[in-house]
Amino acid sequence: MKAYDRAYFDRWYRDPGRRVGTAAELARQAALAVAAAEVVLARPIRSGLDIGCGEAAWCPVLRRLRPEVRYLGVDPSPYAIARYGRSRRIVSGSFGSLASLNLPGPYDLVVCADVLHYVADRELSRGLPELARLVGGVAFLEVQTQGDSFTGDRQGWVRRTANRYRSLFRRAGLVPCGLHLWLGPEAAAAASALERA
Ligand SMILES: C[S@@+](CC[C@H](N)C(=O)[O-])C[C@H]1O[C@@H](n2cnc3c(N)ncnc32)[C@H](O)[C@@H]1O
Repeated sequence: MKAYDRAYFDRWYRDPGRRVGTAAELARQAALAVAAAEVVLARPIRSGLDIGCGEAAWCPVLRRLRPEVRYLGVDPSPYAIARYGRSRRIVSGSFGSLASLNLPGPYDLVVCADVLHYVADRELSRGLPELARLVGGVAFLEVQTQGDSFTGDRQGWVRRTANRYRSLFRRAGLVPCGLHLWLGPEAAAAASALERA
């Protein structure tokens, strides 16, 4: 079984010759997601939920942008919980069992970055309605589809078309607004026609 352990995060996030993504890219994605949520909510974000957060790299970035934000990460990796669970506020859980955590929600910003393409079909379908329920403003759902060329971890990567993801996300009540951003059901109901992608 695939291990999301220290060696995994060293390999993909820290090894200078082999890592993917940079701190600058993460900072730009977070700034985008925060701005989108705040436009939708017409106020600063107060809460963020990060599903499949890994080492919770988003946590310090969100806290730098909005020092008052209440961050919660969810991840099944025992390594991530042991290393960052307390300092970054991560609880143990998987995508498919999200509902069993009984998270109060909604969260102003929900992040699920570089996760869903490693989640099997049945678990994806099980977790999506709960994810959508928890989105108070917007969700940042970064997913690589079979039409994309990307450099990254291909072990356990599930090939799905963009249309497949669109249809699953829409069925859960999410509405696309571009750049991996999705309006939650309430925000979608209030959005004007061309705010939707
Ligand atoms: C490539 S890492 C991305 C980590 C983090 N989202 C980020 O962007 O830094 C994939 C993460 O997905 C998590 N993951 C894998 N399968 C999962 C599942 N079924 N439910 C929730 N998280 C899962 C792993 O534990 C790992 O932390």
